[in-house]
Amino acid sequence: MNILVTGANGQLGNSIQKIHVQYPEHKFIFTDVPEVDITNLDLLRELVKKEQIGAIINCAAFTAVDKAESCEELAEKINVTGPKNLAIAAHEVGAKLVHISTDYVFGGKSSLPLKETDETAPIGVYGRTKRQGEIEVEKSGCDAIVIRTAWLYSEYGNNFVKTMLRLGKERESLNVVFDQIGTPTYATDLAYAIMTLLNKGINKFEIYHFSNEGVISWYDFTKAIFEIAGYNTTVGAIESYEYPTAAERPAYSVLNKRKIKKAGVTVPYWKDSLKECMSILLA
Ligand SMILES: NC(=O)c1ccc[n+]([C@@H]2O[C@H](COP(=O)([O-])OP(=O)(O)OC[C@H]3O[C@@H](n4cnc5c(N)ncnc54)[C@H](OP(=O)(O)O)[C@@H]3O)[C@@H](O)[C@H]2O)c1
Repeated sequence: MNILVTGANGQLGNSIQKIHVQYPEHKFIFTDVPEVDITNLDLLRELVKKEQIGAIINCAAFTAVDKAESCEELAEKINVTGPKNLAIAAHEVGAKLVHISTDYVFGGKSSLPLKETDETAPIGVYGRTKRQGEIEVEKSGCDAIVIRTAWLYSEYGNNFVKTMLRLGKERESLNVVFDQIGTPTYATDLAYAIMTLLNKGINKFEIYHFSNEGVISWYDFTKAIFEIAGYNTTVGAIESYEYPTAAERPAYSVLNKRKIKKAGVTVPYWKDSLKECMSILLA
């Protein structure tokens, strides 16, 4: 199958590039904004036909949660019009679509792991536009899956793990929120999950939840990062109100992975995956 990967220079896109050689049965076409801007429907229509695309993995998104609050139009273009265009282009040629969404489509008010069927209550511009993107994909009639994930990190781009490794080196102490609970997701694990579902076959619209296994706060995550790196940096636990941000953060982001596990996807424990990523980052 010819697989088009959009947003391939981001964290998830790079992670798919890293593992794609393990799937020699497919031909991957990796693209980012300069080659394929997902807001350009004409270009997408032409490309899927010309390259005889059988599946699209959309890793492109406007992911700057705080910036989205002041760049609503652009966030909407990339997170809503983008997936809508991809779904239209895919549907026209009978291609499958894998689209990635986020825990921000929930309000963060739950105290139980979030299921695919739970009611959404998007948080901020980012959450609202990502939820609208999901709706557009579903409305298109395309054979598509939406995988909601959370707390994504990797050896690529900017993310929490890389920021903490830098700050841990620079400072003797720092404060991190302990009242936002979730599960980190190593982008390589998500890349494998995507390939498992794609190879299994996509025949209708489905939503799946995927993160690593376990439950922690950002404070615990930071402590683990420093412990693995061997840093002595002191970490203070603070509340969210002590670290104000432009966009509100969900207090509870734990995803229920029962459905994706039933579909045959392996879900590694968050600390095992963190160690794997950090062994690359610290090498
Ligand atoms: N990061 C997280 O913590 C997190 C958590 C939950 C869910 N997610 C979701 O997971 C997915 C992957 O996230 P990520 O962290 O890998 O994102 P990322 O690192 O920000 O990468 C996104 C990529 O998309 C590109 N892009 C932006 N606009 C585009 C357009 N119009 N056409 C084509 N490409 C475009 C970006 O290019 P530029 O850099 O040039 O803009 C970037 O290379 C996204 O759907 C995101 O919403 C992420």
